[in-house]
Amino acid sequence: MQTVHEKVIIVDYGSQYTQLIARRVREHQVFCTITTPEVAKEDLHAPGVKAIVLSGGPSSVYGDDAPRLPDGLMTAGVPILGICYGMQLLSQHFGGRVEASKEREFGRRQVEVVSDACLFKGTPSTQDVWMSHGDQVQELDLAFTVLAKTDTCPWAGVRHKELPIYAIQFHPEVHHSDHGKKIIANFLFDIAGCKGDWRMSAFIDEQTDKIKAQVGSRHVICGLSGGVDSSVAAVLVHRAIGDQLSCIFVDNGVMRKNEGDEVEAAFKEHFHMDFHRVDATDRFLSQLSGVEDPEKKRRIIGHLFIEVFEEKAKEFNDVGFLVQGTLYPDVVESVSVKGGPSQTIKSHHNVGGLPEKLGFELIEPLRDLFKDEVRAVGRELGIPEVLIGRHPFPGPGLAVRVLGDVTPESVALLQDADVILQDEMHRNGIYDDIWQAFCVLLPIHSVGVMGDERTYEKVCAVRCVNSTDGMTADWYPMPYEIMAKISNRIINEVRGINRVVYDISSKPPATIEWE
Ligand code: XMP
Repeated sequence: MQTVHEKVIIVDYGSQYTQLIARRVREHQVFCTITTPEVAKEDLHAPGVKAIVLSGGPSSVYGDDAPRLPDGLMTAGVPILGICYGMQLLSQHFGGRVEASKEREFGRRQVEVVSDACLFKGTPSTQDVWMSHGDQVQELDLAFTVLAKTDTCPWAGVRHKELPIYAIQFHPEVHHSDHGKKIIANFLFDIAGCKGDWRMSAFIDEQTDKIKAQVGSRHVICGLSGGVDSSVAAVLVHRAIGDQLSCIFVDNGVMRKNEGDEVEAAFKEHFHMDFHRVDATDRFLSQLSGVEDPEKKRRIIGHLFIEVFEEKAKEFNDVGFLVQGTLYPDVVESVSVKGGPSQTIKSHHNVGGLPEKLGFELIEPLRDLFKDEVRAVGRELGIPEVLIGRHPFPGPGLAVRVLGDVTPESVALLQDADVILQDEMHRNGIYDDIWQAFCVLLPIHSVGVMGDERTYEKVCAVRCVNSTDGMTADWYPMPYEIMAKISNRIINEVRGINRVVYDISSKPPATIEWE
């Protein structure tokens, strides 16, 4: 029998912070899902639902196509918390007046807590919060009472006098709201009566049972890339069904130096999994030969990966299922704030992204999890820290880091430089302070002098960035002495590179990868 977890439903009105609300709720060990305002009434009324949160959003409640409160919200009988736009919708529902505020409030603001009961329990009487709104509630029904206000926002936090309905104009999910975590905890535990039963160890046990029941006696395959998601998914499925799982690792020849061997050692020797490495280096490099356009490189690698994987998969009998490391952010059906498909800057073919036509049923044990939760599951499963804490690595790998034509020689040169960068980050204890770090081989030569000889060799760029999701990024201010060490070692140890430069561009306007 499946356990019914307590659950919070977050209705997404298109805020850039919706996923952050979900993460904050999960940090309190309360399971939650994100849904759209069109959510079915039965879902809001389902067993286990303990509370509903309405997110912020870019619309104005008076707009023609402004998203509305979900049907069945008011009869769900559970506490409701409206944040920003969610607050404005609630107040409109109860006959309040929402208007454009005199000045757009954006950034840190100080609120004065009028009532330190319920939402604000245990927080100071004045505190900094994060505001981001144009409209605000100007007049509110007498059924509401004020909990907090600012100089310009008389209703920064309110509660209904009889119903368990709460609303705040600011964003407790953003870490600039100093006591946001406590405010969310007050809502979850004191108001909604959650217990906090969402534990990774329990998740593993439940998934193990579920996978066993789903698979029966059939065979399962998994495309393992060595990245965190596919590794955790594979180990979890292996724990459930052992050798009924076969993992296929396509070595495309454009991974980091020794990466193939490390992945093989981890899964074959450490976890004793049925692991199949297909060395397709020659096929990948020959198809990439002479190709300079980054998007064409991506297409070639994406297609060839599927081809090689399919060929290998045919060798197994009675395969019914395919494991995929899909995560929650990939499946959230969010409100589109752009109102249409955004322009393709880069097509992010994920290696491991296999088409549905393969005809297998999917096993996606991580589809309810955020990345940090996947890491926690991986640690519980005993996956070595070097695999769990890895920086993200793009599917097309070094092919988009050798700018222009990709040759076996240029890949080897870049691998040698990159191994030094990785090594120095570990030696100097900065690997975990950086979100992603790599070398790029530039398609130019520059003049140098070594000993008494003139050299005319390649330039290597070092790119280190910090980011939370890859959408925006800041360049990492690497300490000079570490930079000096990396540069010295690359120039001295890698024959063919005589100059190292450090990339100080943020995203936007630059992107993280150079191609
Ligand atoms: P950009 O360069 O778009 O990168 O700022 C954002 C993040 O995405 C990764 N990236 C890719 N990942 N296939 C992938 O699986 C790709 O084609 C690809 N291109 C970029 C990049 O490494 C960074 O983490």
